[in-house]
Amino acid sequence: MQLRSSFAALGTSAALTFLAISAPGQVEGTVTDSYSYTSMIANIGGANSNTQVPNVQTGAVIASPSTDAPDYFYAWVRDSAMTMKVVIDNYIKGTNGVTRTMIENWARAEQAHQANAASSSSSLGEPKFNVDGSLFTGPWGRPQNDGPALRATAFMKYARAIGLSDTFTKSTLYQNSLSGNSLIKNDLEYVAHHWQDSNFDPWEEVQATHFFTLSVQRRAMAEGAKFATDMGDSGAATYYAQQAAAIQSKLQSFWSSSQNRVNAYQGVSGRSGIDCSVMLGALHGWNQTSVASSLDNTQFGPATDRILATQKQYVDAFRSLYAINNNTAAPTAVATGRYPEDEYSGNDRNGGNPWFLCTLAAAEVVYNALHVFNQAQALSVTIVSQPFFAQFASGLATGMYAANSATYATLTRGMKAQADGFVQVVQSHAQTNGSMNEEMDRNSGYNVGARDLTWNYASWLTKSQAANGTPAF
Ligand SMILES: *[C@@H]1O[C@H](CO)[C@@H](O)[C@H](O)[C@H]1NC(C)=O
Ligand SMILES: *[C@@H]1O[C@H](CO)[C@@H](O)[C@H](O)[C@H]1NC(C)=O
Ligand SMILES: *[C@@H]1O[C@H](CO)[C@@H](O)[C@H](O)[C@H]1NC(C)=O
Repeated sequence: MQLRSSFAALGTSAALTFLAISAPGQVEGTVTDSYSYTSMIANIGGANSNTQVPNVQTGAVIASPSTDAPDYFYAWVRDSAMTMKVVIDNYIKGTNGVTRTMIENWARAEQAHQANAASSSSSLGEPKFNVDGSLFTGPWGRPQNDGPALRATAFMKYARAIGLSDTFTKSTLYQNSLSGNSLIKNDLEYVAHHWQDSNFDPWEEVQATHFFTLSVQRRAMAEGAKFATDMGDSGAATYYAQQAAAIQSKLQSFWSSSQNRVNAYQGVSGRSGIDCSVMLGALHGWNQTSVASSLDNTQFGPATDRILATQKQYVDAFRSLYAINNNTAAPTAVATGRYPEDEYSGNDRNGGNPWFLCTLAAAEVVYNALHVFNQAQALSVTIVSQPFFAQFASGLATGMYAANSATYATLTRGMKAQADGFVQVVQSHAQTNGSMNEEMDRNSGYNVGARDLTWNYASWLTKSQAANGTPAF
């Protein structure tokens, strides 16, 4: 997120503002799962009594309580879906006392967003809404077409949890008829008809074609095809399956064999293509159906050699870029940002910083890869993944290493140490009470940018699920 440079220039004053800077010398934070969960929920309208977000539409998820420098006091479809995926995951796992009401309040908030988006020129690609649910009409990077895909994936999971014949599923979530105006159906139709459109990336900066967006769209279409079939909507199912296959085909063009990595975008100049959004695409587009689909390079899940090769290059790009990383050599974890060419510093454009959610994504990819290798009871070092694995065992030969081999033990131990290291980096730069702003200053490590970024807490929690071997969906 969030401010594009041209829009930042529209602001009244560009005073340099550091929000909630930690006291000098305080470097050990105490982020915990329960603190993260509580802080995340506090940013949802009406969700609990000590909410940070009074006067917010019930069920709407605010990106941050920060109303000024920067103003993130809006409901973004993407950030909301990232957050509510965690809440729905908790509902399914029976943790944190999540009720149907919490999730169905979100559904009603999103129904209002969908209805209001219908009157905007970008339709369901409208990226953010005012806190009362009304359309945000100021200039912005629109459309953003990841939101409807992520929202559909979240609600399909919820519909399966409460049952496909549940009244809420059949009325609010999915009706075969378009005129039923149901949440999932509206989103799937939008994705099916608009995935080929040029649109803005999750950082809202460049209009192009994006690996992240296509990854979550592919997943929404593939799962949507199964969902439509199960709802007896066979015509739609066929159409969604065709779109999933076409997106899957398009995604292959983001792999560069000469660079040995997945590039984040096509049609953007002045950037390497190394970007945190590729990590996020692997995590949120992941086909967890089977070990085979998790390891299928053409599906770009976190355990695939293509994504691990990309993770290595992504992390290495920040080792010498940010002073707080002190040019620490691989395989040690460092603080990672959105992309190396980033200029946005949280409220102005004084140079990019490491982001909490990106550093956590680098960890989550590795934890999930470990989970898949554990399921497979083996890991494969290919010519593509060798640079990733060789950082944990120099001179490593390609080949298949069974779980009972010494090499498997060395590699997985090294991977776990790196993943834990990213978490430690986040701990060491969080506020002492566990709060996380959007970013950490690249020179001082102090918290900068929007305070209590909701998506940070969601990222902390999905990272924890991955570390526990129970990945979020
Ligand atoms: C997952 O992968 C399997 C096998 O490759 C495929 O049949 C299925 O459609 C995929 N599902 C999703 C949701 O991508
Ligand atoms: C930075 O790296 C140098 C060289 O490896 C080391 O001597 C120094 O202690 C490091 N500084 C910090 C703050 O980690
Ligand atoms: C956490 O600490 C920061 C910085 O001191 C402060 O702004 C914030 O209000 C605290 N949050 C809570 C929930 O206590």
